[in-house]
Amino acid sequence: ASTDVLAPPTKSYGHLNPEKVLTVHHWTDRLFSFTTTRDPSLRFENGQFAMIGLELDGKPLLRAYSIASANYEDQLEFLSIKVPDGPLTSQLCKVRPGDIVLVGRKPTGTLLVDNLRPGRTLFLLATGTGLAPFMSLIKDPAVYERFERVVLAHGVRTSGELAYANHIRHELPEHEFLGEDVSAKLRYYPTVTREEYQTVGRLTDLIESGKMFTDLDIPALDPEHDRVMICGSEAMLADLEAMLTARGFDEGNNAKPGAYVVEKAFAQK
Ligand code: A2P
Repeated sequence: ASTDVLAPPTKSYGHLNPEKVLTVHHWTDRLFSFTTTRDPSLRFENGQFAMIGLELDGKPLLRAYSIASANYEDQLEFLSIKVPDGPLTSQLCKVRPGDIVLVGRKPTGTLLVDNLRPGRTLFLLATGTGLAPFMSLIKDPAVYERFERVVLAHGVRTSGELAYANHIRHELPEHEFLGEDVSAKLRYYPTVTREEYQTVGRLTDLIESGKMFTDLDIPALDPEHDRVMICGSEAMLADLEAMLTARGFDEGNNAKPGAYVVEKAFAQK
């Protein structure tokens, strides 16, 4: 039965915390984000993802979502696409403050600073909702301790999909504890592919042509000094991994640090 009000879960699940939705923001008709309460027992590292979802027809329906909030914040934040016929997101996009969502108790993932060898510049390359884990990482003081410069590049179709652009540009530099590091080290590089904008084109093309580095006035990618995290669609990951491998970057993981790490921006249907 389709209804506009989300029913609360009918039972409790050992591996899932029920969390109350606090705020919801609809960026476009394809993209929204929301914050929830955070069970004080939930531990995670910045850049990780958790299973989240709703109880539908008496069963939890879960998808992997990167956590967009930092691990020292007392709310959780998630960024999601809306798929009109997607079993979860067609329902999740209706959440309102006060509704309950289910959050897995065991976040995991590879986009961790510990999975990278030390370096000078950290490139965070995201398309679409692949931005989410990097919203957590750019609020992590350890990231600024380890790197001289942090480039956050976000590729989207239209400028309306540049989620958190205002927060990154105007609020983070004023942040009580992070402001100084952010102002000194974080470079935000948004790019749009399907309408006019200050920077247009896919991240892959902007790297290949060198325009990204000219625009930012920084040296081109160098496996000796640069470290890269990638999060986006399968096609974007495949293309960027091929480019990085050709340039001599080796992949890191939870067993062995490398020059780059990768995570799929989960297809949240
Ligand atoms: P494009 O408009 O040329 O498809 P989506 O919303 O479909 O996930 O796309 C987000 C952004 O990722 C879009 O700007 C899209 O560009 C871009 N994109 C799609 N495929 C790739 C790829 N293989 N490499 C880099 N960027 C890509």
